[in-house]
Amino acid sequence: MVNLETVTLLFAATTTLADPPPTRPLRPITLSRTGGFNIGGKILPHPVLPNETLSCDHGYLEYFIPWRPRKTSLVMWHSSSTQVWQNRWDGGEGYKDMFLRRNYPVWLWDGPRVGRANWACEPTSYTPSFTSDHANFAAWNFGPRYKQWWPDVQFPTTNDTAWQQATSNRYVEYDTKANVELHSDAAAIAADSGKIGNNIVYLTNSAGGLRAMMTTTKANGTNIKGIVTYESIGYVFPDNVNITAGTGGFGPFVVPLEKFKKLAKVPGIQFIWGDHRPENHTSVMESRLCASLINKYGGNAKVVKLGELRGLKGSTHIPFADLSNGRVAALLDEFLEENGLDEYEDGDDWN
Ligand SMILES: *[C@@H]1O[C@H](CO)[C@@H](O)[C@H](O)[C@H]1NC(C)=O
Ligand SMILES: *[C@@H]1O[C@H](CO)[C@@H](O)[C@H](O)[C@H]1NC(C)=O
Ligand SMILES: *[C@@H]1O[C@H](CO)[C@@H](O)[C@H](O)[C@H]1NC(C)=O
Ligand SMILES: *[C@@H]1O[C@H](CO)[C@@H](O)[C@H](O)[C@H]1NC(C)=O
Ligand SMILES: *[C@@H]1O[C@H](CO)[C@@H](O)[C@H](O)[C@H]1NC(C)=O
Repeated sequence: MVNLETVTLLFAATTTLADPPPTRPLRPITLSRTGGFNIGGKILPHPVLPNETLSCDHGYLEYFIPWRPRKTSLVMWHSSSTQVWQNRWDGGEGYKDMFLRRNYPVWLWDGPRVGRANWACEPTSYTPSFTSDHANFAAWNFGPRYKQWWPDVQFPTTNDTAWQQATSNRYVEYDTKANVELHSDAAAIAADSGKIGNNIVYLTNSAGGLRAMMTTTKANGTNIKGIVTYESIGYVFPDNVNITAGTGGFGPFVVPLEKFKKLAKVPGIQFIWGDHRPENHTSVMESRLCASLINKYGGNAKVVKLGELRGLKGSTHIPFADLSNGRVAALLDEFLEENGLDEYEDGDDWN
């Protein structure tokens, strides 16, 4: 006879790293349609021939719409590549499928010049850097230095393929001030267009956070209902506080107060940090100041530290791809619910 208790214990002992299987039964992903389109950008005339043109600097959106969708569109905004939203580090379920299974429309965004929107209006260049793999390891907070993993890191450290996949899945990234403007220009047009619906929540990673905040200051409609940044490097500030704008791609960005106040109109904003990001890190300090200024003008912005709030330890710079991403996603469930963003389109509750 099989001793169920022993089986359970054995199972538990071999799965200490990864999250336990979801408590709700896995439902199939049922879609009504998928597709993609580009948006924003310019049509440039040929410098000499008036009858020739170039269409360039648009962004690209790929969408997945559930059969019975909830009303909120989750726009997944990467810094490194769309891949980080597609799978967990060990190949397990990523945010894209997790939230499709929960019936949220999912949108994958490539800003102008990156990924599938790489037709630029200007010459661009790519210079191979032979230190990139080492730099990725530390920047993504897998550990303090290359191949020195944090002891509790939520990454399958013994899986060489997982590391190889993580470091190779990158696009060329343009971390310049001009590129932040370029991305947010196109994204603001997309937000106001109604093509992503009228309840948009941006989920961002790293440099995508600053771009989503700038987008919000540029959009004129009320379609942007939430921003959840995972380890955003770079923040936006109003011009009535003594903050000097940065000259690079990681801010600070300073905008007129009237535009900054648009962030205070967004129903919910969360700036999320992993436990290996110390309180005195420049971006953590900036996130606290930015949140307090948003709230000063009537907004609802919070700094969330995964380690303190949920005891989530060993988070990387990309916590939604971590082995613990089920628990990180549960936090997003709560955020959507708290802000009334989890409702179904037609009012039906299909849960
Ligand atoms: C544009 O004009 C040039 C010069 O007159 C001509 O060679 C070219 O074929 C034209 N292109 C189109 C698309 O009509
Ligand atoms: C290792 O990671 C790769 C890439 O994510 C994945 O395809 C593979 O299944 C993983 N292997 C194990 C044993 O988890
Ligand atoms: C919002 O309105 C301003 C003022 O009319 C305009 O300059 C800007 O282009 C608009 N933004 C978008 C995204 O259309
Ligand atoms: C503004 O900040 C600068 C640099 O931090 C400082 O030198 C200056 O005294 C500040 N001005 C005010 C009015 O606080
Ligand atoms: C942050 O605090 C730690 C611990 O007190 C200290 O060792 C480190 O130098 C500080 N870093 C910065 C950037 O101030």
